[in-house]
Amino acid sequence: MRRVLLFLLFLSAVVIFGVSTFGMETAAQQSSDDTCITDKCHASMGKAKFVHGPVAVGECLSCHERKAKHSFQPITNVGELCYRCHDRVDSKKGVHKPVKDGSCTKCHDPHQSPFKFQLRAEGTNLCFLCHNKKLADGKFVHGPVAVGGCSMCHNPHQTDFPKMLNARGNDVCFQCHTDKAEAFKGKKFVHNPVQDNCINCHSPHAGEYKFNFSSEGSMDLCFNCHSDKKEWIAAVKVKHGGLETDRKCLACHDPHVSDFPKQLVKQPVDTCMLCHNKPLDTPEGKIVDMKEYLSKNKEHHGPILQGDCSSCHNTHGSDNFRILRKYYPPLFYAPFDPKNYELCFNCHERTLVQDAKTTTLTGFRNGDQNLHFVHVNKQVKGRTCRACHDAHATNNPKHIRNAVPFGAWGLPVGFQQSANGGACLPGCHQKFEYDRIKGVKNR
Ligand code: HEC
Ligand code: HEC
Ligand code: HEC
Ligand code: HEC
Ligand code: HEC
Ligand code: HEC
Ligand code: HEC
Ligand code: HEC
Ligand code: HEC
Ligand code: HEC
Ligand code: HEC
Ligand code: HEC
Ligand code: HEC
Repeated sequence: MRRVLLFLLFLSAVVIFGVSTFGMETAAQQSSDDTCITDKCHASMGKAKFVHGPVAVGECLSCHERKAKHSFQPITNVGELCYRCHDRVDSKKGVHKPVKDGSCTKCHDPHQSPFKFQLRAEGTNLCFLCHNKKLADGKFVHGPVAVGGCSMCHNPHQTDFPKMLNARGNDVCFQCHTDKAEAFKGKKFVHNPVQDNCINCHSPHAGEYKFNFSSEGSMDLCFNCHSDKKEWIAAVKVKHGGLETDRKCLACHDPHVSDFPKQLVKQPVDTCMLCHNKPLDTPEGKIVDMKEYLSKNKEHHGPILQGDCSSCHNTHGSDNFRILRKYYPPLFYAPFDPKNYELCFNCHERTLVQDAKTTTLTGFRNGDQNLHFVHVNKQVKGRTCRACHDAHATNNPKHIRNAVPFGAWGLPVGFQQSANGGACLPGCHQKFEYDRIKGVKNR
């Protein structure tokens, strides 16, 4: 085999120089490289669109060393050969494997090529000589990849950054997406994976879904990391329609940055009002236009004044009526059980309804008779808080309703406040008064 190769080399020498090997010419005499390119031999050299400098001027021997007897030394260390004339491209921290191996000619034709820099192929095809084409597969292909610009992000030779990239982390992206760099600057809250690296969500190359995602971007993508939310949303009995619009999670959350906590697109209450600015249908009947309701009812309950709807509602759904965080009886009556009012007792003292007699626990008392106890703390026909209070807002003091739904009827409450107590003339009974200092004797 070795002999065959040597012979072929010998023959090629004959062909190249068109002279007999048994002739007496010396290498020195043959140093005129013009003879390499003749009509018969290497005729195509120099004819391609891009010809390497020394080849263009016929300097074959600047790279090929002729041994005696007109055979040519096989080129053993190509990399070092190139570095005789070119700056080294293997001195940075990260060196591309073929460069490290000195395999310059895997990418560059040493002589000529139809492609710029005498490359062996153009654009992505060059890289796909060695890398898997699948990398750029997908219905959606990133702009620079689509135009063959692998080198817009990767240096083909060497780099100080990981993965042959020409910058670190998000700076790779911000080189071109300067509008995003600008828009993300100075925001109060940056979504954790955005801070870390854009490629946590966007493939830099291609993806099956819009924006080069590997899964649908408005919900499935989120579930890749927020699997707890996926489980929660699937499990809850009362679903929130807010999650089911076209924008899904993005109706309320900005995936990148926000000036509001929890990546919300607006202030929390304003976020709710994006949709709750009209009456909506639910499986449990129509619900009010909450925006209008709050603007018409001026006495807003504490948490609403603080802009916090989520202290009572779980926006992502819940097992309770009206996506409430805790059970809250949906009806006018419920047998007393302090558990029924966990929602309210998250913030208010449960003692409010526990003792029959008190002079401190509540203002709703007649002398020392606790009227909260009287109304609520009953095994049969205990009134629920909603019988008297509205959780959001009313125009009465102490969030007392004007009327409460009682079956099909809007049962009036008829509350009047006085200096030391008040009076009610509800649909339930005649007018009763209470006074905290001097107990009133109602008939
Ligand atoms: C810049 C250095 C360089 C110059 C100048 C150069 N060559 Fe080469 N040549 C090489 C290298 C390197 C190889 C080995 C090719 C490889 O590794 O793929 C090679 C291989 C060859 C081969 C083997 C077949 C092939 O194409 O791979 C021939 C024939 C050849 N060169 C002819 C020439 C001729 C004729 C000239 C002058 C017109 C020339 N070379 C100038 C570097 C050079
Ligand atoms: C004998 C000196 C010499 C050697 C050896 C040499 N080159 Fe060159 N190379 C040149 C010259 C001269 C140019 C033309 C410079 C110019 O156009 O700016 C050139 C140009 C190039 C270019 C195009 C640069 C451009 O800006 O267009 C590439 C790519 C290149 N060489 C790669 C190689 C590779 C790969 C090797 C090793 C296989 C190699 N060179 C070996 C002298 C050499
Ligand atoms: C993985 C493929 C690949 C390998 C291996 C490779 N190059 Fe390149 N080289 C390229 C590409 C692609 C470009 C064009 C870069 C651009 O578009 O800016 C290039 C450009 C060049 C240039 C001209 C532009 C410049 O940066 O000055 C030179 C010279 C060069 N390479 C030399 C080498 C040398 C020497 C080696 C081996 C030590 C080598 N290359 C190995 C892909 C490669
Ligand atoms: C001659 C074969 C070859 C060509 C052509 C080639 N590469 Fe590579 N590339 C490699 C090898 C080998 C590795 C090392 C693979 C490994 O470590 O798993 C590599 C690694 C890489 C890496 C990963 C580095 C890392 O740290 O994991 C990137 C990015 C890369 N190449 C980009 C490119 C780009 C862009 C091109 C086209 C400009 C290209 N390659 C062309 C052979 C090649
Ligand atoms: C917009 C910038 C950008 C472009 C354009 C780009 N890449 Fe990348 N590429 C990246 C980033 C960022 C990574 C790092 C991925 C990581 O760390 O997981 C990467 C990683 C890679 C890797 C390593 C793969 C791995 O899983 O570690 C290879 C190989 C690669 N790119 C090849 C290419 C090729 C080939 C092209 C052209 C078809 C290309 N890249 C175009 C940004 C880009
Ligand atoms: C070399 C420039 C360049 C770099 C670097 C770059 N991009 Fe792009 N990107 C583009 C171009 C061009 C488009 C296509 C714009 C268009 O279609 O409107 C694009 C489109 C996108 C899109 C889709 C936008 C849309 O409206 O469809 C996303 C998402 C994206 N890039 C994310 C990234 C991420 C993440 C990185 C960093 C890994 C990155 N880009 C780096 C140039 C770049
Ligand atoms: C948590 C996942 C995630 C991360 C991380 C992420 N994005 Fe996005 N990105 C998205 C989603 C979701 C959309 C779609 C937004 C929409 O439809 O309104 C998007 C859209 C885009 C778009 C196109 C639409 C637009 O808003 O112009 C660009 C460009 C973009 N992202 C750039 C980036 C850059 C740059 C980074 C890193 C700084 C980044 N993204 C990090 C999820 C992410
Ligand atoms: C690559 C993983 C990843 C993806 C994809 C992702 N997130 Fe996140 N997200 C996180 C991490 C990590 C945190 C920080 C968790 C923590 O602080 O407990 C976070 C936090 C959040 C927060 C709370 C922010 C805060 O200030 O406490 C919200 C809201 C959020 N993500 C929504 C989304 C939405 C909506 C999507 C889909 C568009 C999404 N996430 C996609 C990883 C991800
Ligand atoms: C209708 C508005 C709305 C939609 C749609 C929505 N969220 Fe939220 N999300 C909120 C609000 C308000 C908060 C802050 C209050 C809280 O913690 O419950 C929040 C908080 C979060 C948090 C951080 C706090 C926590 O509970 O862990 C994550 C993570 C989150 N949402 C993920 C998602 C995901 C994933 C989706 C899509 C499946 C989604 N959200 C859809 C309104 C929404
Ligand atoms: C993207 C639109 C949208 C946003 C934003 C939104 N909602 Fe809703 N919400 C709906 C729709 C549609 C319904 C009616 C369907 C359903 O859930 O029964 C609804 C129903 C409700 C219900 C009644 C649920 C039931 O079935 O009984 C409550 C309570 C509620 N939303 C609270 C909130 C709160 C609190 C916020 C802000 C954190 C909010 N919503 C933000 C669209 C939205
Ligand atoms: C203190 C607890 C609490 C807070 C805070 C709260 N809610 Fe409610 N919400 C409830 C309760 C309890 C119900 C059930 C009302 C009922 O049927 O008596 C309810 C019902 C609703 C309904 C259905 C109304 C209907 O017509 O049946 C909507 C819509 C709603 N809330 C939205 C909001 C929004 C938006 C906010 C913030 C502005 C908010 N809630 C803040 C406790 C609260
Ligand atoms: C997230 C905490 C929170 C929850 C839950 C909550 N409240 Fe409140 N409530 C407050 C705050 C804060 C105030 C205003 C401060 C104050 O007056 O004590 C307030 C005030 C009130 C007042 C008027 C007190 C006054 O002196 O003006 C009534 C009545 C009331 N809440 C009833 C309820 C009922 C009924 C529930 C259950 C549906 C409930 N609250 C759930 C925080 C809460
Ligand atoms: C029969 C009507 C009625 C029912 C039922 C009722 N309340 Fe009240 N509540 C009132 C009245 C009237 C006041 C105002 C007392 C006053 O004059 O200050 C009040 C006051 C309050 C206050 C303000 C602090 C205090 O005790 O004075 C809170 C908090 C409160 N109620 C919570 C609740 C909770 C929680 C429930 C359900 C467990 C409930 N109420 C059930 C009528 C009622």
